[in-house]
Amino acid sequence: MSKLEHALSHYDPTVLEMQRALKLAQDTGASPDVVLSIETALELVDLREKYTDSVTTGETEVFHQILTETYTHDWKSLRTDGTITYNLSPIMLTGNLEGQFLKSMVSIQNAKRVLDIGMFTGYSALSMAEALPADGELVTVDFERYLENFTGDLLRESPHSKKIKIFIGEFLSFSFFWVPRLWGCQLCTFILF
Ligand SMILES: C[S@@+](CC[C@H](N)C(=O)[O-])C[C@H]1O[C@@H](n2cnc3c(N)ncnc32)[C@H](O)[C@@H]1O
Repeated sequence: MSKLEHALSHYDPTVLEMQRALKLAQDTGASPDVVLSIETALELVDLREKYTDSVTTGETEVFHQILTETYTHDWKSLRTDGTITYNLSPIMLTGNLEGQFLKSMVSIQNAKRVLDIGMFTGYSALSMAEALPADGELVTVDFERYLENFTGDLLRESPHSKKIKIFIGEFLSFSFFWVPRLWGCQLCTFILF
């Protein structure tokens, strides 16, 4: 398995923590019951992932591209040299399961306008934009100026990017100036942490 494949399949922080716990249990000679219990928990998470994957619409090329670019980008160096101020990391990425869920929410509500707070590399924005009608609009907000071009370029690979407007700035200032527009919004996702 390549480094990238490994990263893509082990980005769940809960799994990483359980793997750490398993190694600790093994290294410190914990009881076999404890080791077996952690192994079983890991297996259950894996089975749950496989099941949800098998019943969820697969990822298209443009989303795979976003995922790959997000995982292979050197966010740490950008933070160190001051290009970005937030601690951006691939672990923040929405991913296919959540993306399909958000897309369903847009469809179910027949939404025409969506506000996406916290764009990062655009996975949630594009997922929801795909479900909007041709004259629909999604505004995605992020305060990292670096993402304007980085994510903008990724999103332009999809024809649905025409429905997406990127707003670079602090969300609070955005909401202050855009309050009248926010009232007309039918779906608002808050994906910040
Ligand atoms: C968890 S990531 C969002 C994940 C993204 N929705 C996706 O689909 O991959 C959070 C993002 O919110 C941005 N952010 C955090 N606080 C913010 C604020 N107060 N105003 C604007 N953007 C903010 C960060 O720069 C980061 O890109």
